Amino acid sequence: MSSSSAIIARGLVKRYVTYERRGFLRRVKKTIEALRGVDLETRWGEVFGLLGPNGAGKTTTVKILSTLLLPDKGWARVAGYDVVSEYIEVRKHIGVVLSVERGFFWKLTGRENLRYFAMLRGLRGVELEKRVEEVLRLVSLTELGAADKLYEEYSLGMKARLALARALVHDPPILILDEPTLGLDPPSARRIRELIVRLAREEGKAVLVTTHNMYEAELICDRVAIIAKGRIIAKGSPEELKSLVAKEVPVIVRFTSRSTIVEASSLEAKLRRELGVEKFSLSVDKEGRNVLRVLARPGEEEETIARIVGLLSGIGYRVRSIEIAKPSLEDVFIALTSGEEK
Ligand SMILES: Nc1ncnc2c1ncn2[C@@H]1O[C@H](COP(=O)(O)OP(=O)(O)OP(=O)(O)O)[C@@H](O)[C@H]1O
Ligand SMILES: [Mg+2]
Repeated sequence: MSSSSAIIARGLVKRYVTYERRGFLRRVKKTIEALRGVDLETRWGEVFGLLGPNGAGKTTTVKILSTLLLPDKGWARVAGYDVVSEYIEVRKHIGVVLSVERGFFWKLTGRENLRYFAMLRGLRGVELEKRVEEVLRLVSLTELGAADKLYEEYSLGMKARLALARALVHDPPILILDEPTLGLDPPSARRIRELIVRLAREEGKAVLVTTHNMYEAELICDRVAIIAKGRIIAKGSPEELKSLVAKEVPVIVRFTSRSTIVEASSLEAKLRRELGVEKFSLSVDKEGRNVLRVLARPGEEEETIARIVGLLSGIGYRVRSIEIAKPSLEDVFIALTSGEEK
């Protein structure tokens, strides 16, 4: 690989044109700016994370880099080849996992599916059998006893492993993985993460992985870029990014609704107006509790907690737990995106 960057992208712009229904017959043309000038650079032997919330532009970026979508503006080179004019070369050098379920044959086993994709990649005979066996082992499908099961009988975790096996079957130097651990149980997600890190460390592959899971990004990524609304808003190692919020104190308040349910948007407005809290995020955890994460100023955390509890109980919420946390990548994201119009 002569090129020093595995992936380089400059000024990528992508617009989607859609038609919205208004009334019975009227359809109104609407343009969505999915990417507004994305710059990226990833290195060999590195796990690079593209992080951002739903709709930020992660999948759009990944599709352009994997030659599945044309950019409207800007350019990108993958393994030294241009994604538009040299897309055939690009495809030889990448293994892609986009959506876990795409393009497998339901009536074939995992092994048979892989044989087919290995053949498309030009492998034949003994070499093909050897490589298929190798990747089945690598993603632990053999160990799970799932290699010779029909694809239609696969669990989500098995499907994710097979998708990764397909991306690896031709031993590409670059892997492009869109949310590879989405929907997996913790042990399966961990195995996939370990494999990703090993492929970068031990084999020098360049891995680009997207996720909206900041915790996962901290675990596996050497460097990350945070994308929001089609723009890269921060770049660096997780440690470098966390130093941006080193002085903030993340306060996490979990709460449930009692009777009245205040809409999220009006709760956000209240937090801003009545508490003067600027940097926060609202989400829902696995148990269905609301999670408010607020960046308090050092020395003011108790005051902030008291005011949040007062506000929440005043409008019919029941506070379940309060926790003071260490700054994480999630807080970097909150700090960088708070105060913007939604
Ligand atoms: N085929 C399409 N047609 C129209 N709009 C689209 C299309 N694909 C994506 N978009 C829009 O482009 C924006 C970026 O979408 P994209 O799928 O790249 O986001 P994402 O970061 O991958 O989000 P998620 O975390 O939900 O997967 C969103 O506003 C989305 O609604
Ligand atoms: Mg996506």
